[in-house]
Amino acid sequence: MTGIRNCVHSSPARRDLCPRLSGLCSLLIVLMSGVLVADEPSAETRESRLRQQVAQLLETLEGSDWIPLIMADLELSTDLTEESQSCCRRILQALAVADDAAAQEHVHAVFENEPERRGMAAEAVAMAAMTRPGSLRNWRLLVRSLNVVRQSEAAAVMKALQRYRQRANKGHWVRRVILTGLSLPEGDQRLACELLQHWTGQPMRPSAAWSLPQYQEWFAKEHPDLPPAVRPQDPPGAVWTMQSLESLFSGLHLTSEQGVQGPMIFEKAGCAKCHRRGDPGGTAGPDLTSLGWRRQRAEVLESLLYPSQELHEEYPTVIVALKDGTALTGLLQRAPDAGLQVFSSAGEVRTFQQSDVEAIRGHAVSSMPAGTLDRLTADEVRTLVAWLTSVDGIPRPHQEDEGQEEE
Ligand code: HEC
Repeated sequence: MTGIRNCVHSSPARRDLCPRLSGLCSLLIVLMSGVLVADEPSAETRESRLRQQVAQLLETLEGSDWIPLIMADLELSTDLTEESQSCCRRILQALAVADDAAAQEHVHAVFENEPERRGMAAEAVAMAAMTRPGSLRNWRLLVRSLNVVRQSEAAAVMKALQRYRQRANKGHWVRRVILTGLSLPEGDQRLACELLQHWTGQPMRPSAAWSLPQYQEWFAKEHPDLPPAVRPQDPPGAVWTMQSLESLFSGLHLTSEQGVQGPMIFEKAGCAKCHRRGDPGGTAGPDLTSLGWRRQRAEVLESLLYPSQELHEEYPTVIVALKDGTALTGLLQRAPDAGLQVFSSAGEVRTFQQSDVEAIRGHAVSSMPAGTLDRLTADEVRTLVAWLTSVDGIPRPHQEDEGQEEE
């Protein structure tokens, strides 16, 4: 993909470098670079012309015309207008159904490399799966997309996942389907219930279909170790809510000033006690260095507001009852010298020996405190999140957990 991108954006001899480009494609290149037009065209004209070209291309599409579409997608994806975004959506859908490796590879690359466009790529794969379920790789993409899809995207993904024999019946994914299902309009919630039936085999008699509240109740009994499948509530008088946070971020890009201030706010807000981002730092929470590759902004905001919504298995919170009657709550770790330690939400460390322990039990609440943003101004929140999610100069990590298959 990078090859094509370079080929489009770099040298004057670019047409020689791209022997596979068709005539129409060359026209697109000219449009994109604005070479043909005597007066420098405004971005708006260039983009609207490109959209028209795409519409024509989609109508007259023949077997191998994918490259101009891929290039148009790359070009238009940076334009956040509704027209360009819906044009990209149509392109990805055309690429996803194409019987062509490069076309499908592009859709997967968008999913992996551009968290903000994951929902769009997943919807395209879901629509293709309705006619032709395709590979296990597509199934995995659809399962992972459950963390980010919303509304019509979520409905398309849930419908498509029912067409696969595979079932992602790990508690985490089941919980995700319930939560995403609850956010759908009532008419679409049935899709979540059908998928849950397919994955969990509950209720045993499919004719007695359950509603989402029934699945919530069942989930609480089946997975007492996990947070309940309940949508987070803002406490009364909350300083920040999901809505007020999301409104801070429309069209935001990291500025160099934010790059400098980000680490200072990270330190001031106490994040560095538990996390690191690049530099050495805390180990009581996940390494946030590659966060911007792994998560879209809405997911990061959700982690900040409601830390207990997504618990990481590697950071178990426990309640330890010691024989002397003390109770400790926090992240359980091995102590640097000998014995064990509990790292509390307040950042206090208490060390003890195995022999001091009366009982240890799991606690489905994050050791990351809620309300960490409360003492920050809107500007500071913006800077912190922009810096945390920036991927400039940060290599892409390996793919993450891909759901669990079952026959
Ligand atoms: C007391 C330790 C602690 C503090 C302080 C803390 N966190 Fe966390 N954080 C965690 C843990 C542990 C998790 C993993 C969730 C879980 O399993 O509990 C987490 C998860 C996250 C995640 C999600 C990571 C992912 O991979 O998806 C983000 C983002 C995050 N924290 C950002 C912050 C920021 C920003 C601050 C400061 C404002 C902060 N945290 C303060 C412990 C902490």
